[in-house]
Amino acid sequence: MNILIVYSHPSKKSYTFQVLERLKWFLKKQNWNIEVSDLYEMNFQSDMSEEEYEREGFVKTDLPIPADVLIEQEKIEKADCIIFLYPIWWSDCPAKLKGWFDRVYSVGYAYGQNETSKKMKTIPFGLAIGTAGHPNEFLEEIKMAQSMQTIMLEDRLGQRFENKEMLILGGTLELEKVMANHFSQLEAAVERIKIYQKK
Ligand SMILES: Cc1cc2nc3c(=O)[nH]c(=O)nc-3n(C[C@H](O)[C@H](O)[C@H](O)COP(=O)(O)O)c2cc1C
Repeated sequence: MNILIVYSHPSKKSYTFQVLERLKWFLKKQNWNIEVSDLYEMNFQSDMSEEEYEREGFVKTDLPIPADVLIEQEKIEKADCIIFLYPIWWSDCPAKLKGWFDRVYSVGYAYGQNETSKKMKTIPFGLAIGTAGHPNEFLEEIKMAQSMQTIMLEDRLGQRFENKEMLILGGTLELEKVMANHFSQLEAAVERIKIYQKK
């Protein structure tokens, strides 16, 4: 089982980094292969250049795909499961991760296929994990949890994933109250990956 974690947080002092470490620990217990795209550490370019827009915006699939994007697409092709891990900033993922979708989901690969384009593989399982300052109950009450789930699961993961889930690990402003519950949610999510692996 090959797991790709697309991780987007600038600081190792963050709670999201602690979640990453705990998640890797649960995954390693399964003896799965883990690859991490640490977008800040890699200094991943999140802005689409004018040159790239020429390809994406005008569907010129004969134009070349940038080398850093091709590397990410190769990681996707090897993965049986992709986990996106990030803090929720202004009700979405950080711009760094948004830019990963903008650029790595290139036309002809992740959408808009034609006879000559190489289509993205269908991934058996996708998991989006967002840490949030607000408690889950509040994010649900204001319908933000549902909005974030719709955008992440229905659009960004979409039909490219056979099974998909989103975990919002909320309430991080009072960490001592929520941390144990978050970590048991992570462990349970890893158990579900095992089930999808057997299907
Ligand atoms: C720029 C910024 C924007 C944020 N926006 C939201 C938000 O829209 N909703 C929310 O619940 N929390 C928001 N937060 C709080 C983070 O989601 C929270 O701090 C998260 O758990 C990340 O913690 P960490 O940075 O220690 O990993 C925001 C934090 C920052 C720094």
